[in-house]
Amino acid sequence: MTIKVLTGKKGPQISKYIYGQFAEHLGRCIYEGVWVGEDSDIPNNKGIRLDVVEALKDINVPVVRWPGGCFADEYHWKDGIGSQIDRKTIVNTHWGGVVENNHFGTHEFFHLLDLLGADAYVNGNVGSGTVQEMQEWVEYMTFEGESPMANLRKENGSEKAWDVKFFGVGNESWGCGGNMRPEYYADLYRRYQTYVRDYTDQHVYKIACGPNIDDYNWMEQVMKIAAPFMDGISLHHYALASEWEDKRPALGFPEKEWHSLIESALKMDELITKHSTIMDKYDPDKRVGLIVDEWGSWLDVEKGTNPGFLYQQNTIRDAMVASLTLNIFHRHADRVRMANIAQMVNVLQAMLLTEGEKMIKTPTYHVFDLYKYHQDAELVDTYGESKTFVDYTVSKKDGNLAISICNYSVDTSESLSFDLNEFTHTSAEGWIVAGDVMDAHNSFDDTDKVAKKAFKDYNLEDRHLSVTLPPMSVATVLIKG
Ligand code: AHR
Repeated sequence: MTIKVLTGKKGPQISKYIYGQFAEHLGRCIYEGVWVGEDSDIPNNKGIRLDVVEALKDINVPVVRWPGGCFADEYHWKDGIGSQIDRKTIVNTHWGGVVENNHFGTHEFFHLLDLLGADAYVNGNVGSGTVQEMQEWVEYMTFEGESPMANLRKENGSEKAWDVKFFGVGNESWGCGGNMRPEYYADLYRRYQTYVRDYTDQHVYKIACGPNIDDYNWMEQVMKIAAPFMDGISLHHYALASEWEDKRPALGFPEKEWHSLIESALKMDELITKHSTIMDKYDPDKRVGLIVDEWGSWLDVEKGTNPGFLYQQNTIRDAMVASLTLNIFHRHADRVRMANIAQMVNVLQAMLLTEGEKMIKTPTYHVFDLYKYHQDAELVDTYGESKTFVDYTVSKKDGNLAISICNYSVDTSESLSFDLNEFTHTSAEGWIVAGDVMDAHNSFDDTDKVAKKAFKDYNLEDRHLSVTLPPMSVATVLIKG
């Protein structure tokens, strides 16, 4: 049977922010992964490593969430401004109890964004911070005129204010961000967000702390009490290979864990559907965005590394998780306005891994590369054949059609055919990421074992596309109109 691609039907826009990243002061994400300091032998631009910036630019990173995570509710932003050598040294109690020298702070974050061409998602501190502290941070970052905070920013070398597109009011306030009850947090949210002012014409999009996984009561209470005061509300869901045992290995896992991790990732669809239904009660026009600002595989750390650093390898199985989850976000594009995979470098399901001056791109990175054509594209509806281990997504942008397909079977090739309706093509190009074993991955000695390659196993004729995908692969065919 052929899949009908309804190219004539209007669909929602897939926000580019669904391709957002998350960079926390955790393990070697910021320090080593992003920041090496100006005196480092690793090529850098004012302390930010250039290989990482170049790689991330190629996947069009639209937004970066910072400084946490759990770290956000312990972060006091004034510790991270002014001359670097004078900055306060603190203990990162959440993540390995290591010393944090605060060399990467607000100015360095905005410099990173400048280099990437990305927007800011700053997460404020509700758990251990004051309303005044939050208000002053927003003033410091965004106010152009004369004021105590704007003047302080200028003294610290940034004459111009920055654009803070998104601001999170607390993180995981039900857990590491203060162990609050939803009713209490909802009231605190109303109070704190009052002082997240718009100092310019550019509205700061305010994000409330939403539920963990399937905590539907949290969503219900926070929406009931605070919906009119927010632009977005977050959701966190990590894919686990086992819900009952400790974190499972990222490499050398049995086949059942291929399937259990993917099944856990696919739960995202049910979570978004159910949370969205609750949101509809208080926000029927879907004004409030669901912001999945932490998602990805959470596996065991690499042997010999600090358990608090969450440094895990990344395989073709994680590429499946990325592809399937991004497809889910596309299908919920009317409600999901931003998502931030955890995390950008060296932590959890990372895009990039570094070791000293070396850097590798993970299979997940390559999926983000294959999927960049969907950023800000219009979702195209389809109907027809469904196969157990195959999932696909179609979008339209600038007169072109992008079709991404994931075959998550471990041993069977799959063929699909698409009827492109009235869409006529001029040319096409395809790319694929595939693994030969379930834990195929890149290492510092074999950097391109799992990499983006040209994909030719398709046939495009008379408004009809047929594709054959090997097992354990993701491909995109870009059809030019
Ligand atoms: O991404 C790692 C941690 O997971 C974050 O700091 C926290 O918000 C979540 O529990």
